[in-house]
Amino acid sequence: MLRLLLLLTIILATQPTFAHEYHRAAVDSSATEIPDRVVLNWSGDPATSASVTWRTYIHITEAAGEIAIADASTNFSTHRTIEPAITEIWQQGDHAANFHSVTFKNLKPNTLYAYRVGSGKVWSSWFQFRTAQAEAAPFTFIYFGDAQNNLLALWARTIRSAVLDAPHADFLLHAGDLINRANKDSNWQEWFESGDWIHAQIPVIATPGNHEYAKQGEDKPRVLSSLWRPHFTLPQNGPKGLEETVYYVDYQGARIISLNSNQDRDLQTPWLEKVLKDNPNQWTFVTLHHPIYSASARRDNKDLREAWKPLFDKYQVDMVLQGHDHTYARGNNIGEGVTMKDKNNGTVYVVSVSGPKQYKLRDDRWMDRGAENSQLYQVISVEQNILHYRAMTAVGELYDAFDIIKQDGQPNRLIERIPSDKPERRWKNTLEKKNKDEKVY
Ligand SMILES: [Fe+2]
Repeated sequence: MLRLLLLLTIILATQPTFAHEYHRAAVDSSATEIPDRVVLNWSGDPATSASVTWRTYIHITEAAGEIAIADASTNFSTHRTIEPAITEIWQQGDHAANFHSVTFKNLKPNTLYAYRVGSGKVWSSWFQFRTAQAEAAPFTFIYFGDAQNNLLALWARTIRSAVLDAPHADFLLHAGDLINRANKDSNWQEWFESGDWIHAQIPVIATPGNHEYAKQGEDKPRVLSSLWRPHFTLPQNGPKGLEETVYYVDYQGARIISLNSNQDRDLQTPWLEKVLKDNPNQWTFVTLHHPIYSASARRDNKDLREAWKPLFDKYQVDMVLQGHDHTYARGNNIGEGVTMKDKNNGTVYVVSVSGPKQYKLRDDRWMDRGAENSQLYQVISVEQNILHYRAMTAVGELYDAFDIIKQDGQPNRLIERIPSDKPERRWKNTLEKKNKDEKVY
């Protein structure tokens, strides 16, 4: 008996996952009357509209958004207009919540607005955001690769550092795998809590990854998380059946296109060609989760590359922003094989990771800069015909940088600005665990 007790004590003492589980259990994802998970999106023209989505418990059935032009005087709130919300219920086992959304329309371009959401006497803070300019103008955004795991513990620092670094970012772009378990509400709670008011104040563009897809059972295709569409109000200008996952947004002279690399590739191809062909914007960004060129060992998405890279080439997409591989890789001038180079400069492909899960880089290199064992975010700024790019580590070090210069009738020119004092971060030259078997959480 004593030996059994001793054995049990040893087993318990050597299980760091208990602390990890405790941390997870500490995340309360139940909804209340107070609006939470407030997130700002665009579902229409960013110069004249903005959409907001939030959650309450199911007893709030009539909710609204209120909006006014922001002013230093608090009397701005008396000038508000009220927009009734569309409400949908989400249910899963014992869990249920109401998700509400409004789209504010007829806004003035380049104007600072304040909005809040709620009902009766229970309202969120007033959040402030600026509408886009109606024409091409400089802008900045932050791009995140997979957040996915241990969000509150270890992803929160990345999004918070990023926004303190680029506080005037015009939008945040998430390249999929925002969470780990598609339909696990506490995962979403952690994602929202990690960014808190940031999500409510800086518009979010997001594309789904494989972890936003849930198993349905043996031999059935995975389906989009039942929490994706309730949580966001994204554009519905993509192919039918792929609403809020395949779409584009035009922002101040740039077209940002989200492709869904998880399903119905062939359905998206003619749509993609159309939105690339009829594109009046000077700059074009594509985001999708699975990389056209894989960054990590033993991975390759050949079918995606064959379907979409010819279109990226033909219509000269400037950058493709991806995730999935849990490493960092950036390169351009990439040809049909994985390592063979084209003659002309072309689209810049980036794979990045903002969360804690980290893999190994592939050996057959296509990338001009890579990293392992590093959480990163990317700040991208466009000013007329120049794009400035910098990849930053979660502790605020400049890790990768370049400029793209647009040239009339010629391919983009890329100017390398990799910091010369920063060797490539690999498993062998970065921080190791203090104890090999210790869990990270
Ligand atoms: Fe993934």
